[in-house]
Amino acid sequence: MSDEAMPVVSVLLDPDWASGSLVEDVRRGLGSHPLTLSPKWLYDDAGSELFDEITRLPEYYPFGAERAILEAHAGEIAEASGATTLVELGSGTSEKTRLLLDAFTEAGQLTRFAPVDVSEGTLREAADAIAQRYDGLEVEAVVGDFTLHLAHLPRGGRRMVAFLGGTIGNLYLEERRAFLGALADVLEPGDSVLLGTDLVKSADRLVAAYDDSAGVTAEFVLNSLRVLNRELGADFDLTSFSYIPFWDPHMERMDLRLRSETPQRVTIPGADLVLDLAMGAEIRIEISTKFRVSRIAAELETAGLAVSRVWTDPDGDFALTLATKP
Ligand code: SAH
Ligand code: AVI
Repeated sequence: MSDEAMPVVSVLLDPDWASGSLVEDVRRGLGSHPLTLSPKWLYDDAGSELFDEITRLPEYYPFGAERAILEAHAGEIAEASGATTLVELGSGTSEKTRLLLDAFTEAGQLTRFAPVDVSEGTLREAADAIAQRYDGLEVEAVVGDFTLHLAHLPRGGRRMVAFLGGTIGNLYLEERRAFLGALADVLEPGDSVLLGTDLVKSADRLVAAYDDSAGVTAEFVLNSLRVLNRELGADFDLTSFSYIPFWDPHMERMDLRLRSETPQRVTIPGADLVLDLAMGAEIRIEISTKFRVSRIAAELETAGLAVSRVWTDPDGDFALTLATKP
């Protein structure tokens, strides 16, 4: 690898998870009812690999639907944004992002790519591969939390912040509001956001996408307990929990829970917490909100961003919305 192809990596997260916000999150989420956990702790190395596997499952339509939109419209997106820097939040492997990078570099306008993710290993690998593949592109990766570190995004040039995959749907309504407001605050006039959102559809297809026949999603969700065992010395017995995914039609979101199949006591020494779980007690590990196009536009506008374009795939499963800071 030549020097020019080396990405610059800034680490904003404490490398020792157990001394950082994991403890606070666990105390807040498991120390009161309803029992919840923040989904960002799903993505240790094993979790990131399991998510990658999920994207290849036949039932998990969002990945292919978003890729189809990018395949059809990446050129228009590059042109409409006019961006010279592409920032990507929750970038993971940046696999679909290559379609954007191809279109932006073809248009001759891109100088910099800044992927941001909490999953350091996955981020470093993706940043290396992209620096190798796109000659002359500055790659500035940030190991950081998009709910905490938006003020540290690279500045300068005209920026487009891509937030793909429907990851915004993993935030609760209040978190989403705070996130979009904070994002709008750090953007300069002319900067834009490209937001990927999964759309409301039949409960059958939604449940199938989160309850795959190979059991990969169940493994992904259960992995959160493995993270607590390793990082906080907890003694969760993974075999005594079952995976309960369901569609909540009122909140229009998938609700992914783990249910204790026996009465049990779990100790989490790193968080100074003892959990007495009754048989049937549930821990909500993740939500995945599904949207309607009008609601996405309303939330972006409320945050102070002006929606300029919306693209969907031919089946109407997924949407990409481009919004600009006036
Ligand atoms: N954008 C990719 C990956 C989606 S998976 C795609 O569309 O396929 C969600 C990604 O967001 C994971 O890589 C995870 O590590 C990252 N992530 C989750 N919570 C995060 C947070 N609070 N801050 C930064 N990254 C986060
Ligand atoms: C990353 N995020 C958009 C995924 C989703 O569909 O909500 C995470 C996921 N959880 C279970 N399967 C996929």
